[in-house]
Amino acid sequence: MELVHGHTEGKDYTEDNFGWTELTPSYRVDLRHPSNEDIDQFINANVVADWSLLSWDKIGKPFEVKTVAKSKRDWEAENGEMSVKTSWEYFNRSFHDWFVKDMPAALSESKKNLRKHLSQFHVNEVKCALGETARLSLWNYAHRIEDGVWDPRGKRALFKGLEVDKPRILFLGAAEGYEAMQLQAMYPGGEVVLVDYDEFCKTDRFGLFPESYPFLGINTATNQPKVWYKDQMNIHYVVDDIRNLSFGKEFDIVLSVGLLEHFPDEYKHEVMDWHRKFLKPGGYVIMTTPRKQMKSKMFYTIMADVMNHTYRELMDIRQMGLYVYEGGFDILRHGYIKVHNGIVARPR
Ligand SMILES: C[S@@+](CC[C@H](N)C(=O)[O-])C[C@H]1O[C@@H](n2cnc3c(N)ncnc32)[C@H](O)[C@@H]1O
Repeated sequence: MELVHGHTEGKDYTEDNFGWTELTPSYRVDLRHPSNEDIDQFINANVVADWSLLSWDKIGKPFEVKTVAKSKRDWEAENGEMSVKTSWEYFNRSFHDWFVKDMPAALSESKKNLRKHLSQFHVNEVKCALGETARLSLWNYAHRIEDGVWDPRGKRALFKGLEVDKPRILFLGAAEGYEAMQLQAMYPGGEVVLVDYDEFCKTDRFGLFPESYPFLGINTATNQPKVWYKDQMNIHYVVDDIRNLSFGKEFDIVLSVGLLEHFPDEYKHEVMDWHRKFLKPGGYVIMTTPRKQMKSKMFYTIMADVMNHTYRELMDIRQMGLYVYEGGFDILRHGYIKVHNGIVARPR
């Protein structure tokens, strides 16, 4: 069942909507495959048989994205090198702006502008309007239609089958916290701690994350699938540098999404240590990074002004896995979903 532009208002998705998907002006609602029974088709899982046989000589290093957002280039021309934290602050404001766009309205406005400038032979304006129309079309396809960024079915396929009860979940570099909310819907009754050193992530990216977005999870009382909403979850947001956290080994799951690839190789061990440091014995580390594929290279080229404020690599699942394996973890589950690689691991 697929309805386009027929947005259901408010938090009124229930079990009656199982099997349903629809497009709101900014994102896809997806209640297909509620029971997770046939969810494995959304992950290309376990492509590496033995991590100890891989070496960097054999698989090569990740691809580094070198294009830089105009806002950062302009800032640096005036002020010198931008710090990593300021770069994230620019990124988060820019990225958030795209998540909340009314895509049909923005696309129609952009095309109208393009037609106007074309009819008046304004060459520079035509170039700008073409660029904006290309970015909007790509975002509309990649995020809203394909649901590649949130990819709930791929994420549920990666997250399923964990042996946890009311887990405490720590999300490092949480931004809007999407994946921790998906995890809490699947494994309810515990607590989520989101950590990001950019205050804007707490106030806006998470704070304004739609309360009507339905996460498919479980009702533990009946063991039946259930729709969960953000405001039904137990979530705490900590605005701090991950390096300052004083937690002990107290989390059942430590999660990061799009963090490892922002650190050059000399820091990758430190990032892996962050994941180990707060984990209970027997707990799970879950990590994802964007895939190295032609589509992603094109995405980060066309969306450079929106996305490219920080150091960024694109890697394949073997490269990501080798960082995790060399960081001292056993890999329990790995694979790729729509646009990310995903790994579930445990300290060795
Ligand atoms: C690329 S984002 C994660 C991807 C995310 N899913 C998104 O949609 O933006 C990484 C996040 O980590 C945060 N971050 C990076 N380094 C950090 C640190 N040392 N301490 C806390 N947060 C950090 C950034 O502020 C940013 O919000």
